[in-house]
Amino acid sequence: MSSSRLPRNLEPNALARLVQAKRRAGASIVDLTESNPTRAGLSYPDHLLAPLADARALEYDPQPLGLWSARAAVAADFRRRGSVLSADRVALTSSTSEAYGLLFKLLCDAGDAVLVPHPSYPLFEHLTRMEAVTAVPYALEYHGSWRIDLDSVRAALGDRVRAILIVSPNNPTGSFLHRDDLAALAELAAARNLPLIGDEVFADYRLDPSPAATHVLAASGVLAFSLGGLSKSAGLPQLKLGWIAFGGPSARVDEAIAAYEIVADTYLSVSTPVQAAAAELIERGAAIRAQILARVTRNLASLRAHARSFPAVAVLPVEGGWSAVLQVPSVGSEEALVLSLLDQDDVLVHPGYFFDFPREAFIVMSLLVEPGLFDKAMARVLPRVAAQS
Ligand SMILES: Cc1ncc(COP(=O)(O)O)c(C=O)c1O
Repeated sequence: MSSSRLPRNLEPNALARLVQAKRRAGASIVDLTESNPTRAGLSYPDHLLAPLADARALEYDPQPLGLWSARAAVAADFRRRGSVLSADRVALTSSTSEAYGLLFKLLCDAGDAVLVPHPSYPLFEHLTRMEAVTAVPYALEYHGSWRIDLDSVRAALGDRVRAILIVSPNNPTGSFLHRDDLAALAELAAARNLPLIGDEVFADYRLDPSPAATHVLAASGVLAFSLGGLSKSAGLPQLKLGWIAFGGPSARVDEAIAAYEIVADTYLSVSTPVQAAAAELIERGAAIRAQILARVTRNLASLRAHARSFPAVAVLPVEGGWSAVLQVPSVGSEEALVLSLLDQDDVLVHPGYFFDFPREAFIVMSLLVEPGLFDKAMARVLPRVAAQS
């Protein structure tokens, strides 16, 4: 009945089945995969969302790229991260996921491909398939820090490739795009007239970035899209406000925006109340962002301190973002390890293979979790993963 865009096998995997069984049996699981900021014990002021009730939202003014006031507020916010951008180069979306869908519609025909980093965000598989596009991987390699393997990019650049995706900082490796990698990618992309799509949803969460960290709009000579949204930058995923910033040579940007307008006009998916409130929500979001930054900084320091007693476990460097990666002894499989952590210690973590790490064994944990629970979980996870060696 369903299209081939959907997975054939809709059965939950072994980890999801065990979570269900444990919850049914009344277990209290510490969820170190939690990345929903509204469930992380942060303090959201009572009237934070009052701007959504503004009477300006009573008028429906359908604008494919979004209301000008909201686009201007997003453009102004980009300055905080060092990009000078004019409002006419900003388009609003309801989320970053939607932004990917709209951009794939803009750039790709069915059967075309986009390059995606590995390891990275697992949703790429679905986001591409839903648009009848193929995700072709290129590799990030770990040599004390995660860098783009440019040979793997060159090898992946087949005839059907329509864009190169970059996630910076990357989920879950926490690595930022480096200036020389961006220059090399831009050269490869320019030679084939391909755009770069930079997912920069975690760009505000800079923990220990290399001095060479940069952003996709700094690319020269190519069309570039920078994706972001309130979901991560203000810890407000439920508001459904994301954006795409367009950069690159003016003629190419103008052409892309004109075509993109047709795609966005087909859906007009961003609600008027959130657009009318955008400027104020972006301003108010700074307080939530500060809490999240303090939380992930605190939990990372705690993880490093706990891990010092377990030399078999390496906490990989985290330049930014909300997650940490642990390299652990690979005696058994990652799957067996995460199942035993859940079964015996009531702690849920993600296995590295979920993010397409090139080899075993890695586990990934969210740094967003409430500190008391995070520390409790650490005290269980580290002895178990170290005991494997
Ligand atoms: C790299 C990356 N991009 C995008 C998203 C989703 O963002 P949004 O809520 O705006 O769709 C996530 C969510 O975890 C993510 O990790």
